[in-house]
Amino acid sequence: MTAPTPSEKALVPFVSVENMMRLVHQVGIERLLVELTDVIEEDFRRWPLFDKTPRVASHSRDGVIELMPTSDGEIYAFKYVNGHPKNMGQGLQTVTAFGLLAEVSTGYPVLLTEMTLLTALRTAATSAMVARKLAPSGSTTMAMIGNGAQAEFQALAMKSVLGVSRLRLFDIDRRASEKTKRNLDGFCFEIEICNSAQSAIEGAQIITTCTADKQFATILTDNMVGSGVHINAIGGDCPGKTELHPDILRRSKTFVEYPPQTWIEGEIQQMEKDYPVTEIWQVLSGQAEGRTSSTQITLFDSVGFAIEDFSALRYVKNRIRGTNLFQEIDLIADPDEPRDLFGMLERAKS
Ligand SMILES: NC(=O)c1ccc[n+]([C@@H]2O[C@H](COP(=O)([O-])OP(=O)(O)OC[C@H]3O[C@@H](n4cnc5c(N)ncnc54)[C@H](O)[C@@H]3O)[C@@H](O)[C@H]2O)c1
Repeated sequence: MTAPTPSEKALVPFVSVENMMRLVHQVGIERLLVELTDVIEEDFRRWPLFDKTPRVASHSRDGVIELMPTSDGEIYAFKYVNGHPKNMGQGLQTVTAFGLLAEVSTGYPVLLTEMTLLTALRTAATSAMVARKLAPSGSTTMAMIGNGAQAEFQALAMKSVLGVSRLRLFDIDRRASEKTKRNLDGFCFEIEICNSAQSAIEGAQIITTCTADKQFATILTDNMVGSGVHINAIGGDCPGKTELHPDILRRSKTFVEYPPQTWIEGEIQQMEKDYPVTEIWQVLSGQAEGRTSSTQITLFDSVGFAIEDFSALRYVKNRIRGTNLFQEIDLIADPDEPRDLFGMLERAKS
């Protein structure tokens, strides 16, 4: 007796790393970042509809493994993601991820995909979405401190969404800056590799900090940061892992994704509990003010929130429709007679 053929619902579209790379190249990375920025913004504007919870984190000495769930009542999504700063020394990625989208009405998955690349894309798109709202108008220069896996994505999102054309790079490992400069050849940036964070931020309207170290690090001190800049702080995203001196936060207007999660993981974990924060979804939906003066320092204390992954998964699901950029995998046991799961198993005996 042969095994029964799985029904249509049992076959779940799966986007491999190879197919994700093909998707990015077919769409074009800059166009994709612009489209993804708009999709994330669309979901942030309907923020109250979503189920929200701080991500579920399993911490260890070497890093963290997290689950990030959310739902808008029609679609459910979760991402599995890790953060292991020491991985790089063993030739492994600091951050890897995969994720799933399911329909709420049946609970059946409708997409399974790699999300290591997709996380880098959605993190960059989120940074650009926020900078588009808060950075000084006409920003053309970004300092990029930490030139690891996320760096080129951040640079390209700021270019395609805001028109940033000059990059000032700094990393404690010069080879990382050289890698970033080399990878961005051909994207029409003017790039300078700097010898310190202090020198990198000279003349920059946007400062992105994107380092990985599991400690209270001080990538920027207060005296380094001039008035009027936008700080896009994405590397401090775990308890005990921050990048900015608290005095910078005291001078800044700080914007966050989901306060209950950011208080645990973001730069604001260093602050007193009455430190004021503005939720970025409220700014995007016109319910709160963003930048209120040209001399104000705006700070996006980014930690990465589940709705960004939801949007990215939703985007990929729509984008692969009608293409050959996915495989159908036999993920869900789905017997012809729903109560006959055991019968299905028995009939599969060889
Ligand atoms: N907020 C979010 O949504 C989000 C999403 C993805 C990653 N992250 C975080 O962003 C950070 C960077 O991720 P990645 O994948 O690029 O990591 P990575 O390990 O590939 O790169 C980190 C880089 O930072 C450099 N670095 C470390 N300490 C530094 C210092 N003091 N000054 C300058 N450079 C320094 C390292 O040499 C390395 O090149 C991680 O901490 C990660 O957890 C945040």
